[in-house]
Amino acid sequence: MLSPKLLKALNEQITKELYSSYLYLQMAAWFDSHTLPGMANWMKVQAQEEASHAMIFYNYVNERGGAVDLGAIAKPEGDFKKPVDLFKATLAHEETVTASINNLVSLAEAEKDYATRGRLLWFVDEQVEEESNAMTLIGTLEMVRDGNGLFQIDRELGARVFNLPAPLAGGAA
Ligand code: FEO
Repeated sequence: MLSPKLLKALNEQITKELYSSYLYLQMAAWFDSHTLPGMANWMKVQAQEEASHAMIFYNYVNERGGAVDLGAIAKPEGDFKKPVDLFKATLAHEETVTASINNLVSLAEAEKDYATRGRLLWFVDEQVEEESNAMTLIGTLEMVRDGNGLFQIDRELGARVFNLPAPLAGGAA
C-alpha cells in the first residue's frame, strides 16, 4: 500500500501531467494560428506524451491499491509574442516538473517506499530528455535570422511522431 502522503503526492502529479498536456495543446493552438503547422505538430505530440505520463501515474496508483483522485486543471498560459518564447516557456515549465519529480523521489525515500522510488527513475531520465529537447530548440530558433530558416525548422518539427512510452508499451517502468 502507498502511504497517504505518497498517494496524495502521486495524485497531484497526475493533475500536473494533465496540466502539462493542456499547456502544450494551447501552445499547439498558438502555432496553428500563426501558420507554423510543424511546430504545432511538435506541441501536439508533446501534449500526447504528457497525457501518457498522467496515465503511467494513474496505472501505478491503481497497481498499488490506491484510489486515483483527479484535481482541477488550470487555464494554461497562451499569450506569446514569437516562436522561441513558447520553447522558453516549455523549458521553464519542464524545470518545475523536474523539481516535482525530484520531490516525489525524496518523499518515496522518506517513506521507505523503494518500489515507488524505482518507478520514478524513468521520469527522472525523461526529464533530462525533455529539458534537453527544449534547450536545443531554443538554441536553434535563436540562430534563425529569416523566414526561410523558420520554415525549415517548422518542416523538421512536423516530422515528430508520438511513441507510446515504455511503461505504457509494456516495457520496464
Ligand atoms: Fe511529463 Fe514533460 O514531463
